[in-house]
Amino acid sequence: VSGRIKSSGSEMITLYQILFLFILTYCYKVNVYPFLYKNKFYRHEEMEELAAKFLGVESAMAFGMGFATNSMNIPALTGKGCLILSDELNHASLVLGARLSGSTIRVFKHNNMQSLEKMLRDAIVHGQPRTHRPWKKILILVEGIYSMEGSIVRLPEVIALKKRYRAYLYLDEAHSIGALGPGGRGVVDYFGLDPRDVDVMMGTFTKSFGAAGGYIGGRRELTEYLRSHSHSAVYAASMSPPVVEQIIASMKCIMGEDGTTLGRDRVQQLAENTLYFRRRLTEMGFIIYGNNDSPVVPMMLYMPAKIGAFGREMLKRNIGVVVVGFPATPIIESRARFCISAAHTKDMLDTVTVPPCLAQNGYLFHTKDIKSAHSWSCVIPFFHSFFHSIASSS
Ligand SMILES: Cc1ncc(COP(=O)(O)O)c(C=O)c1O
Repeated sequence: VSGRIKSSGSEMITLYQILFLFILTYCYKVNVYPFLYKNKFYRHEEMEELAAKFLGVESAMAFGMGFATNSMNIPALTGKGCLILSDELNHASLVLGARLSGSTIRVFKHNNMQSLEKMLRDAIVHGQPRTHRPWKKILILVEGIYSMEGSIVRLPEVIALKKRYRAYLYLDEAHSIGALGPGGRGVVDYFGLDPRDVDVMMGTFTKSFGAAGGYIGGRRELTEYLRSHSHSAVYAASMSPPVVEQIIASMKCIMGEDGTTLGRDRVQQLAENTLYFRRRLTEMGFIIYGNNDSPVVPMMLYMPAKIGAFGREMLKRNIGVVVVGFPATPIIESRARFCISAAHTKDMLDTVTVPPCLAQNGYLFHTKDIKSAHSWSCVIPFFHSFFHSIASSS
């Protein structure tokens, strides 16, 4: 080769051209255009194609952080002159995204279809304030499973409403993807609906997939638009390769593409564990919130003073449990949140409920006695207005 380079100038140009073409082809193959794709490799593409297949949508794209998937993509989809209808219990990332978008935000009562329909009807009838021009876009924001309530979104009704009023639907499946439905494909799978009826399918890889990051799935126009307009796509680095590998491996496992039934068995096991644990707690007299099929099981403690003490007492008995209070919940609705896993065995679940764990703590903290809890609910409105007045005066 060196001989040819020396021999004539025109041959040298040809060699440089070949070299240039070779580098271009290599870059194209592994997608190494840092200024365009931010270190995106072909495994990222494979993961996105797999996610689209898993969700049953045309196309999907992944982001390095679940929180940013919401907070940075909602502003790319809506803006001034658009209306966002948001469930009152939506996650902070959805709330932030809605606020950053500059759209008008109206909040409907949690999972309440009458409240949602009234807002949709008003929006169509009155249009934008003052000008009464039609809204440029109406976007409904909901979650699959609400992480503090354990409630499952009433998706068939939401879809019917969005179709009737020609709105768009954004569904956050952070807690339902990989956990709900016969194939673990989330709330759409659970209700046996068509994924194409949800305009923006969002979810995270942080929970069921044991990884990190988030995704948006939907029509190809949607993902292509977001690739060039979303701040989290243009200005953020893509996922690190080990995270991508983890997502591919766990997704293939859930889909059965690893050649085993491990994933399907786990989804089934999770559903069984959920039903069993919820039934046990109800039988024992605890007050639990949410849908029977939801693996997020909030157990009410009510009083803020019980939060820390309950968590510590459980830990003393070797049970780690998440306890939640204000501002994640209303101030007098403190709770313990059990997140059931497919890896929990019946023995483990029984260990939590039998003495000296919940059975004893239930008496210790008076959370088990329904009558005392109900008597609490009589004073709840008093405390609510008391704390509310303190909050609003400060
Ligand atoms: C409903 C919902 N959306 C988004 C997120 C943010 O996801 P990540 O923790 O992966 O950033 C969470 C986190 O808990 C969530 O519960």
